[in-house]
Amino acid sequence: MKRLDGKTALITGAARGIGRAYAEAYIAEGARVAIADINLEAAQNTAAAIGADAFHVDVSDQTSIEACVAEAESKLGQIDILINNAAIFSAAPLAEIERADYNRVFAINVAGTLFMMQAVAKSMIKRGQGGKIINMASQAGRRGEALVGVYCASKAAVISLTQSAGLNLIEHGINVNAIAPGVVDGEHWDGVDAFFAKYENLKPGEKKQQVGAAVPFGRMGTAEDLTGMAIFLATPEADYIVAQCFNVDGGNWMS
Ligand SMILES: NC(=O)c1ccc[n+]([C@@H]2O[C@H](COP(=O)([O-])OP(=O)(O)OC[C@H]3O[C@@H](n4cnc5c(N)ncnc54)[C@H](O)[C@@H]3O)[C@@H](O)[C@H]2O)c1
Repeated sequence: MKRLDGKTALITGAARGIGRAYAEAYIAEGARVAIADINLEAAQNTAAAIGADAFHVDVSDQTSIEACVAEAESKLGQIDILINNAAIFSAAPLAEIERADYNRVFAINVAGTLFMMQAVAKSMIKRGQGGKIINMASQAGRRGEALVGVYCASKAAVISLTQSAGLNLIEHGINVNAIAPGVVDGEHWDGVDAFFAKYENLKPGEKKQQVGAAVPFGRMGTAEDLTGMAIFLATPEADYIVAQCFNVDGGNWMS
């Protein structure tokens, strides 16, 4: 018996990065996985490579959320596990933050998480067999950062929504929890590195070296460092865990 045999998981933003690693780890544990991403072509390529199904979703768009969940359910059956992983990064000094950027980050990172939870939880409640929802927070949601105000605020909101949804949905046997990674190498952090190269006058790759050296574990994280927690939170072993946010960050943050 594998740990997720017979389970179906929908993972947003899983065309690449951490979401893709989750999809691969879940498939290795016996789950069927729906990769839902705004980049359908990338989602299809990833799905073909790892044995998942691909669906289009723009989590900032309510119609798209509802269509994606309906399509995934009609193809794969009930969704037992949702991972709200899709998000975008944004950074700027306070004086340069633009309202359009704020709106976009909150529409994807916060409203996307909320309304994906809602769409999937409605089906889970109707079915009456519970479920597992995992939201991707961040160490950025634990405290502000001088140049990363909007993204940090969006991840703090994800932690808060996890707490409220967790308390609200546990009466239906739906566990809502979150994972807060620290600094995870990959395409996302290539962009973060490029931003800091500009604003802190660093060479390409220098910011990554700095943040990696500052992690108590001694290096940046990898997407694979996070998969153990994502699997555990989806199993019955985690049934009594409600509305929590777990730091998986090599020791960067304690709370
Ligand atoms: N990489 C890190 O260091 C780090 C640290 C802390 C938290 N996180 C969080 O982990 C999650 C995954 O991060 P990652 O590094 O793999 O990011 P990534 O940028 O590599 O991947 C994000 C994925 O989300 C998709 N996406 C973007 N907008 C979307 C939308 N509107 N609708 C649907 N899909 C959309 C992208 O196409 C992409 O496939 C995010 O929530 C991120 O905030 C990452």
